[in-house]
Amino acid sequence: MSIITFALFLFLASFVVVTAQKKVLDIASYGGLPNGDITQAMTKAWAAACSSTVPVRIYVKNAKYKMLDVHLKGPCKAPAIEIYNDGTIQAPGDMSQLHGVQQWIRVEYVNKFTLSGRGTFDGLGPSSWHHNTCAKNVHNCKMLTMNFGFSFLNNSVIRDVTSKDSKNFHVNVLGCNNIEFNNFKIDAPEDSPNTDGIHIGRSVGVRILHTKIGTGDDCISLGDGSVNVTVNDVTCGPGHGISVGSVGKITSETPIDSFTVKNCTLTNTMNGVRIKTWPAGPGTITITNMHFEDIIMNNVSNPVIIDQEYCPWNQCNKKIPSKIKIRNVTFKNIRGTSGTKEGVTLICSAGVPCENVKLSDVKLTFKGREVVAKCSNAKPTITGVAPACVGAAAA
Ligand SMILES: *[C@@H]1O[C@H](CO)[C@@H](O)[C@H](O)[C@H]1NC(C)=O
Ligand SMILES: *[C@@H]1O[C@H](CO)[C@@H](O)[C@H](O)[C@H]1NC(C)=O
Ligand SMILES: *[C@@H]1O[C@H](CO)[C@@H](O)[C@H](O)[C@H]1NC(C)=O
Ligand SMILES: *[C@@H]1O[C@H](CO)[C@@H](O)[C@H](O)[C@H]1NC(C)=O
Ligand SMILES: *[C@@H]1O[C@H](CO)[C@@H](O)[C@H](O)[C@H]1NC(C)=O
Repeated sequence: MSIITFALFLFLASFVVVTAQKKVLDIASYGGLPNGDITQAMTKAWAAACSSTVPVRIYVKNAKYKMLDVHLKGPCKAPAIEIYNDGTIQAPGDMSQLHGVQQWIRVEYVNKFTLSGRGTFDGLGPSSWHHNTCAKNVHNCKMLTMNFGFSFLNNSVIRDVTSKDSKNFHVNVLGCNNIEFNNFKIDAPEDSPNTDGIHIGRSVGVRILHTKIGTGDDCISLGDGSVNVTVNDVTCGPGHGISVGSVGKITSETPIDSFTVKNCTLTNTMNGVRIKTWPAGPGTITITNMHFEDIIMNNVSNPVIIDQEYCPWNQCNKKIPSKIKIRNVTFKNIRGTSGTKEGVTLICSAGVPCENVKLSDVKLTFKGREVVAKCSNAKPTITGVAPACVGAAAA
């Protein structure tokens, strides 16, 4: 090849590098430069990626960047799209610059999407958290912007990256089929309001593996329509634990089924593993096949808890039982320390008692003594060592 052709080749290669069938789009070639705002560059790179006919990677090199809200939407022609971020990308601290969107980075309607790299997505939450009035103003509070919304994605992976200091939830998973979080990291302080780690709803086949979550609210929470969700090798703390629900407040919900939490460690969290439903609600969905196994609790206030009288801020009548049926729940090989004497709480609905709840080798201590189990409308089957239900509540 002539010198001129070779020079031309190098020139083109700096924009588009085709390696082993995967096309690489460097954000820098779209004007996304270190210390600059990469909103436009990301949007343009996404448009190019989406229309690619071969698998494609958007590459963000290690540097600091700013980015406003982006909406990365499919369906795409590309067989697979990866965003590989080695840098630190910051959201605006000033909420008004986010155009009132629910999610800072929203990825929707894509098959085979991957988010990876050693980088960080920093929601710059500290300057906005005081705008969160939801604890005081329950019914009409303004929702702040989440770091990520992954909606209607199929066969997708989020790996290695860090989500830091989101203004609200870190990640909302909605309508996805087969999505995996692997070696993902979530980092926000204990006192940051509503910074749930990963919230899942209306999705089938979600795996959260080898992930470290420290935040101010639930580490992982399952909303209605979550089916076949697996959590393995996750550490949680600080945070409020791993929760199913709350559900039952409205009628439009769909069932929650097949949730397995295994080989996890929770440290200094408010709850450990929890299922919660609203009393006095119209919802009648079922929650079935919930399995919690090989879990270490370190100073967890409520390590094992089913609460069908979940009613924060006393906004409902606890005397009207929840209509949500809970069936097939196992708590197996759960050990460590509880922050309260009642380390196991099984408060089920008087209307539709829990069915087939198993406690198998649940060894928890509070101040050096075995915890007790507080139960109502549940008759757990006990195998191995586990606290028996005590007190008047053992109905
Ligand atoms: C995801 O899968 C669902 C169910 O198979 C399908 O209806 C939908 O079109 C797929 N979405 C994309 C973006 O491929
Ligand atoms: C549930 O997940 C397992 C493993 O991830 C998979 O093999 C199975 O097909 C899934 N079932 C459904 C109904 O999605
Ligand atoms: C999961 O199991 C592996 C192997 O036993 C262990 O090294 C790791 O610490 C466990 N993870 C948690 C979060 O307990
Ligand atoms: C136990 O957890 C609580 C928060 O739930 C915390 O205030 C306390 O410092 C923790 N104790 C230890 C010994 O870490
Ligand atoms: C409950 O678990 C049993 C096996 O223990 C299974 O046969 C049954 O189908 C499960 N019920 C539901 C509603 O999934």
